[in-house]
Amino acid sequence: MLQRMIQSVAIGCFLVFGVASQGIAADYDHTVEAKKMTFSWKIDGENLAGKLTAETDGWVGVGFNPSEKMKDANYVIGYVKKGVVTIVDEFGTTSTGHKNDTKLGGTEDVKVVGGSEEGGITTIEFSIPLKSEDKNDGNIDVTADTTVLLAYGAGRDSLKSKHKFRTTMTINLGTGEVK
Ligand code: HEM
Repeated sequence: MLQRMIQSVAIGCFLVFGVASQGIAADYDHTVEAKKMTFSWKIDGENLAGKLTAETDGWVGVGFNPSEKMKDANYVIGYVKKGVVTIVDEFGTTSTGHKNDTKLGGTEDVKVVGGSEEGGITTIEFSIPLKSEDKNDGNIDVTADTTVLLAYGAGRDSLKSKHKFRTTMTINLGTGEVK
């Protein structure tokens, strides 16, 4: 009897921790895959709820609407270090670099939803406004094509480390169609 009770408590704990480590997972309507990376999202009223996964112990990131290469894009970049999820709101200041919006006089407009780093896979979940008050974020038009940048780093949980992988896609974020 005692053994059975211990067993069910142990199973209960496993389930609770199992859910917690995944974060508060939202249901997503669309997913794109690029090499060892995925970007899933849904349009949730005035916000975009997103999830990034990549085969890395380092950072994962998505950028929207660059003017040229990385420049002028609105970035969401995050990592998980010792179980703590960090996700930041950045802006493409040059064609090969980005800075935090708050350092540019803007605001942090990313809501952290969850994240995990397990078995060499980093996952972050977040929400961003489609129309932000911050001029650096720009607007995401879900009825038109959006240039979407995806990238991940390697090894270090440092946003200063360059990507191991990066790609550019054209996506209608409303319908999920990839051009
Ligand atoms: C500190 C972090 C970063 C550094 C130092 C960096 C640096 C660079 C450099 C030097 C290039 C040009 C050479 C090349 O193609 O590899 C480049 C291109 C690119 N980067 Fe980054 N990057 C960083 C973060 C990011 C992030 C967070 C994303 C997207 C989420 C990204 C997406 C891209 C893409 C898509 C290109 C190719 C652009 C094109 O040729 O059209 N980068 N980056």
